[in-house]
Amino acid sequence: MRLIVGKDYSDMSRLAAGYVKKEILKKSNMVLGLATGSTPVGMYRELIDMNRKGGISFKDITTVNLDEYYPIESTNSQSYRYFMNDNLFDHIDIDKAKTHVLNGMAEDSEKECASYEDLISSLGGIDLQVLGIGRNGHIGFNEPGSQLYPYTHKTSLEESTINANSRFFSSLEEVPRHALTMGMKTILNARKIIVLASGKEKKDAVRRMLEEMIDTSCPATLLTLHNDVTVFATEDAVER
Ligand code: GLP
Repeated sequence: MRLIVGKDYSDMSRLAAGYVKKEILKKSNMVLGLATGSTPVGMYRELIDMNRKGGISFKDITTVNLDEYYPIESTNSQSYRYFMNDNLFDHIDIDKAKTHVLNGMAEDSEKECASYEDLISSLGGIDLQVLGIGRNGHIGFNEPGSQLYPYTHKTSLEESTINANSRFFSSLEEVPRHALTMGMKTILNARKIIVLASGKEKKDAVRRMLEEMIDTSCPATLLTLHNDVTVFATEDAVER
């Protein structure tokens, strides 16, 4: 696991965007796995800027998002589909038909998850997966537990995640209690992974991930099984 430390949030975002840019320049039709949460927003801004200035193009890129609340309408401003349109897709030259987010209103969630796995396989797998990290070490919505699902599945959110994510909703009650998420094996199958971590509240989770002891009580530690992971962190997320 490589660690790259930015002195602050904008520095970290710039470094991470630089990494993504290099990968896009190597393979213009790459399959890019994307994440939501507040952490990647700065990196998305940098990518939008690079796209505007002509440094990179997204026109041949396909994206697959990590997760989505369940149930949630895609038009709800807190849905991850809405988030992605608002923070990235609406501002770059991507073909929206090539952007994939799990359907938070699917009637049959099992079927939706199985088709998502099929979709990823039919695309030839994910070239680069972008990840954030939860305060409790969750990845996507793979929450700490004694067992972790390998593939895309429906999951219940932990109380601490509901509380942490409630800052985006008008009340705690509005936070969906479930989500659809790629599983740890779906994520580990990506050819390259980057993890973005910012702020001191991520310190414990980041420390455990970097210590490289595998423990399902901190799903991020499973990333040590992958041989091409780069962590972009702010100084306060890694200081002892
Ligand atoms: C959510 C998302 C994760 C994200 C995490 C951290 O629960 N499902 O993919 O990494 O929150 O979010 P933030 O970056 O806002 O701290």
